[in-house]
Amino acid sequence: MLKTYEAMDIQRQRGNPWAEFEGQPVIEPSLLACDFAQTGREIDRVLDAGAEVIHVDVMDGHFVTNLSMGPPVVESLRKYTDAVLDVHIMVTDPEYYIERFAEAGADSITFHVEATDRPLALTERLAALGLGVGVSLRPATKPETLSGIIETVDLVLVMTVEPGYGGQEFMHDMLEKITAIRSMLRPAQRLQVDGGIGKHTIEQCARAGADVFVAGSSIFHADDAGRAFSELRQVVSNI
Ligand code: DX5
Ligand code: ZN
Repeated sequence: MLKTYEAMDIQRQRGNPWAEFEGQPVIEPSLLACDFAQTGREIDRVLDAGAEVIHVDVMDGHFVTNLSMGPPVVESLRKYTDAVLDVHIMVTDPEYYIERFAEAGADSITFHVEATDRPLALTERLAALGLGVGVSLRPATKPETLSGIIETVDLVLVMTVEPGYGGQEFMHDMLEKITAIRSMLRPAQRLQVDGGIGKHTIEQCARAGADVFVAGSSIFHADDAGRAFSELRQVVSNI
């Protein structure tokens, strides 16, 4: 039986995590590409290289045709690290899961605008829980879809691949959308990109206006994940 929002008393103690990084680009290693049998060691590799945020992809087999992690994984990660846990929920009916991920220890939750009829109710609930408030758009979803909620979010995620799988090729036609959405945001609101981010595409996204970069394969499939993270950081710090 699902617990209801009213029945729960979850309040994030640390406040909106994105405020901690104001004015700085953020690179988020995405665990989806790590060796799950060694998750702790994989996390240590990127934390030792300076990562402060870990990206957790949640997939339900409905909103996307893949399955990945759920609240118990977030709970274990929360016990393992103090790093910010940025949870990207690619699920149908996100309203059923927000409190569960909050309770498990998520710091920021990004839901898909296509997955709900009441996005404003969700952004308000996330803010009331003291979490970072993120909203994501599939590649085909237009920026105008954000009208009425964009003022209420801390972060907009522009998917630069079709959500569901790691290792896909970056969609260059998303660069225009990144620029369009950046012009709709206040400076402190973050613009995140996710999918196909590597040494070349991170630079293009940063120039287009993104400032939070999710990278899975280009970090965890590299020979040295820590070095791959540092190289990406180097590229954005030179822009
Ligand atoms: C895809 C996920 C991504 C994924 C990115 O739906 O949202 O976070 O891990 O993987 P790469 O960086 O390999 O494209
Ligand atoms: Zn993601």
